[in-house]
Amino acid sequence: MTEHQIHVENVQSAAAKIRVACGELSPKIAIVLGSGLGGLAARLENPVALSYGDLPGFPVLTVAGHAGKLLVGTLGGVPVVVLNGRKHFYETSDAYPLKTMIRALSVAGIETLFLSNAAGSLRAHIGVSELMLITDHINFLGLNPLVGPNDEDFGPRFVPMSDAWDATLGAAVSSAAQVEGITLHRGVYVAFRGPSFETPAEIRMAQGWGGDAVGMSSVPECILARHCGMRVVGVSCITNMGAGLSDENLSHAHTLANAANGAVAFERLVIAAVRAF
Ligand code: HPA
Repeated sequence: MTEHQIHVENVQSAAAKIRVACGELSPKIAIVLGSGLGGLAARLENPVALSYGDLPGFPVLTVAGHAGKLLVGTLGGVPVVVLNGRKHFYETSDAYPLKTMIRALSVAGIETLFLSNAAGSLRAHIGVSELMLITDHINFLGLNPLVGPNDEDFGPRFVPMSDAWDATLGAAVSSAAQVEGITLHRGVYVAFRGPSFETPAEIRMAQGWGGDAVGMSSVPECILARHCGMRVVGVSCITNMGAGLSDENLSHAHTLANAANGAVAFERLVIAAVRAF
């Protein structure tokens, strides 16, 4: 079998396992939890957990703060799938694990993908531990997960990205933030490949491009989800100011600690938002 045929089989069998885990529920929303935001998983009602190791072709995770579990349950009564952990393009240039994950969700009936991540702020008014609705992105990864032969069964060769981040779902998240009294900034997310953090010169470049936050994830997930026709919405939890914009030293431990500070508001926001989708 070719690599692609193995991928298609993995997608089908992972989707079948997800559907079995769903039981009576028919979730339409999947939530991908970013670094340090895994606490939302504990807020699920009646959770059923699958380990990524049990899902064919799913990523094998290596980064602290990423659990590698798919959970099905309800959040405030709304059926959802939660993905706690994902593979980044700084770990590998193999897009297949991520492709399998996103496409299996689509085949299993998911229509809306709610992405989250930890990110550095590029703007003085967007503070540490605050949240930002992603209104658009810049793919500076040097990679696109759709490179290679296209499988029309999943989606078209050329994917429009002018409405990549769904404005209607974004408006629902903004309304939920207002009702909950949570500050929610809006902005453009710039994805760097990492794993090194940016230099101050790179941060100035990203500011000049019109970016509002920087991170190392979510853009490949968005591209793959748009390719297979899912709607995408996303929130960044600001864990630090971009390099050179403050005196702090950046580290993954620092990211996790500051994500924990924003996580409480993030959890409230997601629970309120999915009710309004
Ligand atoms: N840069 C890139 N990724 C990040 C950052 C950052 O400053 N903070 C959290 N993830």
